[in-house]
Amino acid sequence: MFSRFVRPQTAYALHNSSKNFGTSTQRNAKVAVCGASGGIGQPLALLLKGSPHVTELSLYDIVHTPGVAADLSHIETAAKVKGFNGPEQLKDALKGAEIVIIPAGVPRKPGMTRDDLFNTNASIVRDLAQACSEVCPKALIGIISNPVNSTVPIASEVFQKAGVYDPNRIFGVSTLDVVRANTFIAEAKNLDPTKVNVPVVGGHSGVTIIPLISQAKPNVDFSKDKLKALTERIQEAGTEVVKAKAGAGSATLSMAFAGARFTFALCRALKGEPNVIECAYVRSNITEAKYFSTPLLLGPNGIQKNLGLGKLSDFENELLVAAIPELKKNIQKGEDFVNKK
Ligand SMILES: NC(=O)c1ccc[n+]([C@@H]2O[C@H](COP(=O)([O-])OP(=O)(O)OC[C@H]3O[C@@H](n4cnc5c(N)ncnc54)[C@H](O)[C@@H]3O)[C@@H](O)[C@H]2O)c1
Repeated sequence: MFSRFVRPQTAYALHNSSKNFGTSTQRNAKVAVCGASGGIGQPLALLLKGSPHVTELSLYDIVHTPGVAADLSHIETAAKVKGFNGPEQLKDALKGAEIVIIPAGVPRKPGMTRDDLFNTNASIVRDLAQACSEVCPKALIGIISNPVNSTVPIASEVFQKAGVYDPNRIFGVSTLDVVRANTFIAEAKNLDPTKVNVPVVGGHSGVTIIPLISQAKPNVDFSKDKLKALTERIQEAGTEVVKAKAGAGSATLSMAFAGARFTFALCRALKGEPNVIECAYVRSNITEAKYFSTPLLLGPNGIQKNLGLGKLSDFENELLVAAIPELKKNIQKGEDFVNKK
């Protein structure tokens, strides 16, 4: 029987890396979501509102935030929710933010690559990054907007131009690739998906997504063919959802879950919790690509230590070789966008 006085545990478990989800009572974070009314923004805001990691939730979008904020504010959790609508309210939305998560921008339709979104999303991310660089330059910033391979360099260039760039604080959220890899490998081996952990490195599109199945925990073994098929499924999983949604957008609910998992990792790191590790796409000197996702040890100031690639199998080395030229091209495109005359 449900007792009125015993609060039920939160109905979802945000992975074993977020074990203390739902129990924390220490110092908690002010989080802003930019693009909060969208397909990702709304369920992400719901998950954040449900978490004791968050004290204040600032919801910014160019439409519908008063409604989204009013709705969420009735939920019986501690986080204070405020909505900010339109560019004239952007700076107020960002005031005091310690974490800013950005899922603003258009999603893919069938037949589109993530790079096809560049023309629309590049300027959206540039303008949001510009505001962050002025109002909350020390915030930890998580960029969900695609193409992540280019939008992270865009935000970084904006911060650099503003003279407030700290490469340890700007992250491309590639957590969904990890979440998908864990799910698909657990399915293939009949394992509990909450106990599987597969690092996914590289970038966040097609061949730049490199699942390191040889480093999966627990150890898993696959035939060459199965390994190739699984890798390709992880690389193309976003397109699987785009096709299934048939014109109604791309992954939103699984992305909200992944975005919440990453945000909670940042919250826990801000509090000084030890051993908070997530993969994310960041400024990096691990490979020839200036930005690259690897497992990161997170701390109160963002990246505490880049944990690097570890030992790759021959197959993974081939994937890496294929990814680097594409990544470099995507990075250059982002940088050129900010630096063009
Ligand atoms: N990183 C990932 O793994 C991943 C996964 C899925 C989707 N995405 C990307 O996330 C983005 C959002 O996807 P979605 O499905 O939520 O799209 P959506 O269209 O449902 O929502 C986007 C929201 O952004 C808002 N917006 C547009 N311009 C804005 C601006 N200048 N400032 C603030 N908000 C603005 C829109 O009003 C809308 O509410 C897309 O670029 C998509 O490709 C990333």
